[in-house]
Amino acid sequence: MHKTRFFSGIALLALSTGGCGLAAASPERDVLVPAEPTLIDFVDPATVPGLTTETITEGHATRGSRYVHITYPELSGAPALGRALREQAQRELGDFRARAGGEPADPRPELNVDWQLAAASPQAIAVRLRSGEYLRASWENATRTLWYDPSTGRTTGSTGLVAGGDALRRLAELVKEQFAGRGAQVERSEVTGGGDQFDSMAFNREGDLVVEFDDCQLAPCQLGRVAVAVPAKRATPLLSAFGRRAQQAAAKGPAGRRGGPAASPFAVPPRSPEATSSRAGTVDCAVAKCVALTFDDGPGPYTAELLDLLKREQVRATFFVVGGNAAAQPGLLRRMSDEGHLVGNHSWSHTDLSKQGNPKIADSLERTRSAVATAIGQAPTLVRPPYGAVSKGLRNVAREKGYALVTWDVDAMDQQGGATPDIADRGVRGAHPGAIILLHDIHRESVAAVPDILKRLRGKGYSFVTVPELYGPAGMQAGRLYRSGSEPSRKQPLT
Ligand code: NI
Repeated sequence: MHKTRFFSGIALLALSTGGCGLAAASPERDVLVPAEPTLIDFVDPATVPGLTTETITEGHATRGSRYVHITYPELSGAPALGRALREQAQRELGDFRARAGGEPADPRPELNVDWQLAAASPQAIAVRLRSGEYLRASWENATRTLWYDPSTGRTTGSTGLVAGGDALRRLAELVKEQFAGRGAQVERSEVTGGGDQFDSMAFNREGDLVVEFDDCQLAPCQLGRVAVAVPAKRATPLLSAFGRRAQQAAAKGPAGRRGGPAASPFAVPPRSPEATSSRAGTVDCAVAKCVALTFDDGPGPYTAELLDLLKREQVRATFFVVGGNAAAQPGLLRRMSDEGHLVGNHSWSHTDLSKQGNPKIADSLERTRSAVATAIGQAPTLVRPPYGAVSKGLRNVAREKGYALVTWDVDAMDQQGGATPDIADRGVRGAHPGAIILLHDIHRESVAAVPDILKRLRGKGYSFVTVPELYGPAGMQAGRLYRSGSEPSRKQPLT
């Protein structure tokens, strides 16, 4: 990423002449432009002790009318921040449900929320939630940054960085000034600082106050992210005491700049060896009755407990991890790999890839591949499509990038949690030799169902293997879709 800095500066100039469509620091959607003044140096979450991720999901390939996937971080020392994030997630979900309605639509309405750390220091923690909403055939994106003051244990919205109403109004004038000369497409007169307008603010490494607006808020939707950086010396007099501490923590001196941004999980050489289970081949599924347990959407707060119990029971599984979670908790991926499990790719932030264009599909999968490779030194070759949704574009990208696509033929239907005994029943009832069983390690109830599932399937004579072992020496091929390791689908790859 460092190498592109100079050229990125040029790219920015080209973008700026078009108005204010500035590049966003968005792993899923855009390209980082380090020279861009509205860029925030996000903190590598893997460096933050006590960080886990929470997930709220809704929707499934075979039922429901909407797709929802919301992730946010929880920090062990900041419970108030966790509560505020959970409330915000629930608010966004409620608003989305109201807008989407209950009527089936194709493609389905979708809400996807992921996060970044805009600050993480003893002075201030900031979580930037980035929401994408797909309604009426187009995406609309919004950001909101919540701040946490470790010295008081209190959470605030972004306006808590500013010292009250007068300061907010003066800030609105400064923001307008920053927009001057940036093209006629921005409705400068709309900048008032009222309502939720300044709900996403953070500091860049110079200590400038970056104010960002949602899609369509001030300018035509197609401009995407609109943001300005109010210079530090002008912003500082308007800041609250907490705002000043946050600003000082964000501003990096020359030493910080020499060090550059935190090591990116995406800068890994792409030539890592293919991920395999270290114990693959110890069971011959041509002879033994095999099933593959698969756990999606993690790693999450219950993954460590699940790994403990799988280790105790000497059972191997396949984990289809979400890239953002994997980058935040690489230690859990290392455990998976070290303990004989297989790590697969479940996209970067769990958007429905079947309604994305090929470049975005590739970006989501490759970022996740890099995050996994950074953690375990091996690159996943299996992709589980979010929501099980497969398009021609996804198949083509998979073929080109060397991924086999894996869905499932036994669904424990634990997406919304549900009662543990029911999850266990569904996991066991449909099992057959070659079954690929879908579970999620982000739900407490799912993890609690695992001991019963293992006991009952063992009682029926099953061995537990990772997905590729179901296919034996024939292996799995890039671009093909695998739903089951049983004979019919083995003979009938679906491409
Ligand atoms: Ni999933």
